[in-house]
Amino acid sequence: MIPVAHLDAGVSSEAREPSPSRGPSRLTHTAAAQLEKIRTIVVDDHQHIARLVANRIATLITEKQAAGERTTLGLATGSTPIGVYRELIRMHRHEGLSFRGVVTFNLDEYYPMRGESFHSYRRFMWENLFSQIDIDPRSVHIPKGEVAREDVDDECRRYEDAIARAGGIDFQILGIGKTGHIGFNEPGSGAESRTRLVMLDAITRRDAAADFFGEDFVPREALTMGIATILEAREIAILATGEHKAPIVQRAVEGEIDVEVAATFLQRHPNTTFYVDRAAAAELTRIATPWLLDEVDWTPDLTVRGVVWLSQKVGKGILKLTQRDYAEHKMSSLVARYGTPGAVNGEVFNTLGAKIRGKSKLPREKRIICFSPHPDDDVISMGGILRKLVENENEITVAYMTSGNIAVFDHDVRRYVDFLERLAAESKVEANSVVPLAKKVYDFLDEKKAGDVDIPEIQDIKRVIREAEAVSGIEVMGLTRENARFLNLPFYQTGKVAKDPIGPADVAIVRKLLEEIRPDLIFVAGDLSDPHGTHRMCKEAIDAALAQLRGTGDGRRETEQPEASTSSASRLPSPEVWLYRGAWQEWPVTDASYLVPMSQEELRLKIQAIFKHQSQKDSAPFPGQDEREFWQRVEHRNKDTAAVLDRLGLAEYFAMEAYVVD
Ligand code: F6R
Repeated sequence: MIPVAHLDAGVSSEAREPSPSRGPSRLTHTAAAQLEKIRTIVVDDHQHIARLVANRIATLITEKQAAGERTTLGLATGSTPIGVYRELIRMHRHEGLSFRGVVTFNLDEYYPMRGESFHSYRRFMWENLFSQIDIDPRSVHIPKGEVAREDVDDECRRYEDAIARAGGIDFQILGIGKTGHIGFNEPGSGAESRTRLVMLDAITRRDAAADFFGEDFVPREALTMGIATILEAREIAILATGEHKAPIVQRAVEGEIDVEVAATFLQRHPNTTFYVDRAAAAELTRIATPWLLDEVDWTPDLTVRGVVWLSQKVGKGILKLTQRDYAEHKMSSLVARYGTPGAVNGEVFNTLGAKIRGKSKLPREKRIICFSPHPDDDVISMGGILRKLVENENEITVAYMTSGNIAVFDHDVRRYVDFLERLAAESKVEANSVVPLAKKVYDFLDEKKAGDVDIPEIQDIKRVIREAEAVSGIEVMGLTRENARFLNLPFYQTGKVAKDPIGPADVAIVRKLLEEIRPDLIFVAGDLSDPHGTHRMCKEAIDAALAQLRGTGDGRRETEQPEASTSSASRLPSPEVWLYRGAWQEWPVTDASYLVPMSQEELRLKIQAIFKHQSQKDSAPFPGQDEREFWQRVEHRNKDTAAVLDRLGLAEYFAMEAYVVD
């Protein structure tokens, strides 16, 4: 049970909780440590990381306060540290943690950037932390994105001086970008670099495009602390969550120090801890291929992963793997366990084969809820199974958790308002209501600047556009509008890209639906890499509602409903939970509990359903890193999953979806 390397220095006792169940059980610390050049702690999820890091910060602050000293924190923005900030706010509100006497320095700021801008890191920090704690505003430092270009060097020097005057940074929080940047130290940043103006990498700008409503609006430059500034911090916590961070985490932790990957410089720092969730840890050797490091305990799960890896590595079907293949890849111990290569090959072949679930092996005449974070995740991620479940006469409810309104272009709003005006002009709808609405909409849109929050009328139009598309999409699957529910969870209704935390009102809505439908099975988005974390938050609301219904509490103090009844009358039989992954990535076949094949016609139908989401077609506002449209990604991904199975020597299907039973 010990794939957590280095549980020692600088980590609260909570880190000693059990390590990921998928790790090998006898892998020694030393073996992983030889390869991992940064102390790395793998925990289950984002919230767990938030608790660990916030606890460490709170301990530091409290100890220093007791000694009459100030604590100087280095802070980061981005989606990863938000959980830490929420936890610190909670500790401030409920546990008396005080930030009086705490001094903060943020890593970076876009340039040029007005402090009050919707996009500034200054605003991010005030909204997500400072306005909710008792910190003295004079103790907050964030590089000034509004200084004139000729004053930039002075501003950077002043920033460095201020850090030095504060006695240096005691504890620095870092995220990691897909380029491996820390702060905005993009590839090419040197070990000696200090606070300065830098050009942003194309990948970073594309990642930020979602927050700026388009890549064209993302600033090209930023002010950032340098690598040398960061490495002077006495203690560093670098955080990464989600499957999209797995390759860069592996590179930063196990790769050589390289000027092309700024995070590798942390290998030189004596007191850095990398906190990663399971998804982000997936490519670390101790998780992905631990048998290459040391003796392992070949659990059934590890056996499947090992054999699939070997088959892919040597390019042979599973049933053709030989003793020599195993021996040459440090896997003889697995053959020894089974006696012969044929025995282990056969076992894994059968295990994978048993995951394949055609229509006859899927639920029939059950009550099912498909929770879709945005309108379209349902058909994008589970269009294949949805059709089969309809054919199997299940009672299906598709619950759209958010309206997805921020992802509708303004030009689509104009088109629909024009449509209404045309109907009104022909007296088919009430002109009295259409004309003032149209005026209000056009007046606002004419003046709108990128990032402005839409007026409620436009938010509503965008919501309704997506609702109509969602109904149209499920109609392709053989469902009707009666099968759709639009939950409009409050956490999403900020009108902005930044969302509120999941709260009791969100959980109550999900719970009410569960109580009403009493499902046997629910589908939940289990992907962690959607650009704004909405999928993760939707899952959080569902998990909390299920926990309440099971009478187990939700373990999350902020979202717990004080009035939540746990009487047996209100409890439900626990539905089975199947996780799908959204548009961004698919479950590996080794992780999948079920693989659902699709014929050519079924894949075509699924794509037709995706086409119904017209506002997201051609070019979606939040496409992520991928140039392809959603339907193209789906087609490739589903065909790829089938091809993986084919190459392993199993049956040759046209396309496949994958599901994990939670
Ligand atoms: C933010 C910063 C960046 C981010 C990194 C990861 O102040 O300096 O290095 O930490 O881009 O961003 P997220 O957490 O959004 O994935």
